[in-house]
Amino acid sequence: MSLSKSKPKPDQQPESDSNTSLSSSTEIGMNISVQHAKPDNTISDELSFVHDAVLLQETVAAVLGIKCLPKQKNGMEAENSLQVSGIYVDATFGRGGHSRLLLSQLAADAQLIVFDKDPTAIAVAQELASTDSRVHVVHDSFATLTDSLAAMGITQVDGLMADLGISSPQIDDGSRGFSFMRDGAVDIRMDTSRGQSVAEWLEQVDDETLANVLYEFGEERHSRRIARAIKQMDSYQSTLELADVIKAAHPNWQRGKHPATQSFQAMRIFINNELGDVDDFLEQSIPILKAGGELAVISFHSLEDRRIKQFLQRHSKGQYPEDESLPMPPKRPRYFSKPKRIGPSKAEVNRNPRSRSAWLRVATRTDTGYQQIVEQ
Ligand SMILES: C[S@@+](CC[C@H](N)C(=O)[O-])C[C@H]1O[C@@H](n2cnc3c(N)ncnc32)[C@H](O)[C@@H]1O
Repeated sequence: MSLSKSKPKPDQQPESDSNTSLSSSTEIGMNISVQHAKPDNTISDELSFVHDAVLLQETVAAVLGIKCLPKQKNGMEAENSLQVSGIYVDATFGRGGHSRLLLSQLAADAQLIVFDKDPTAIAVAQELASTDSRVHVVHDSFATLTDSLAAMGITQVDGLMADLGISSPQIDDGSRGFSFMRDGAVDIRMDTSRGQSVAEWLEQVDDETLANVLYEFGEERHSRRIARAIKQMDSYQSTLELADVIKAAHPNWQRGKHPATQSFQAMRIFINNELGDVDDFLEQSIPILKAGGELAVISFHSLEDRRIKQFLQRHSKGQYPEDESLPMPPKRPRYFSKPKRIGPSKAEVNRNPRSRSAWLRVATRTDTGYQQIVEQ
């Protein structure tokens, strides 16, 4: 992933915006309630961690193109009431909260393709697929959307949903390295089957590049001095040691917020190419969605939400930005209509405080045929 050069220099930067600042009880922007810590990282133990899906009904209703899901008398969603046919994608299966609710509304002839980078999430998805023939599992990034679907003979789908970021099980399992509160290897990869761990990257990265990553993806204003301290470490074997070094190098931090929050977020976003993957996914959603198909994406910090917002603005306004040298601004294709943003209800935030930073953005694909545009 390339780092933008237009930003002010690290260590001279303003405070991160409030949306990106993650609160004390929230480690690295995840969206779920903490479940139980556990002693080792075997797949069967990892499967025992639970994920409390955020904006669950709202997202599933949105991807089906309806206002809300039908309810039973007891207030629960009525299972199998909609019987919707078609092909749907859950780009971030996790523990399958959104997938399972969507499946409960899909007809027997529908298909649900689920993606995840995480091998443990994929093990859970495969278990589900073994009992539900509508489910097809892809262990890869959602950035491979077009190619992965093409490999299954699918060129268009009726709905796409994504719940970005990391899951509760990923952070609760200290051995994965996502947590600065639990000790583990400095890995921080979602997909432990490929790519470089953060420890491997830290071994070879120079101070300046590290500082730029901490600033760019964590909006860490003290990135230079933190980068220097990290590079002075003898080895990168323990997340708690790394968090302690960051804490010692940090001159001041927000009350109630661990000083390593932004640095860990930055390294996580960088090593997993999170923003690049989101950009690729969004671009591919245009040709992949059928006319009338729905895009529903949940994000947890402003770096992601801004991208989704700008993408939908770009493709729903029907015009290029004004160019004063031209008498009439040229028209650009309107690929999406009705973009909207939905936040969690008060009740959800009370029940699951980590949902408070979540935004769901939804839009409907228009019938405008796709033409690839080369941006200037
Ligand atoms: C917030 S969790 C999703 C939780 C899920 N909606 C549920 O209800 O259980 C995000 C999941 O997305 C996965 N993920 C993040 N980025 C990804 C990417 N680029 N491609 C595929 N999976 C990704 C993570 O591994 C994680 O399991």
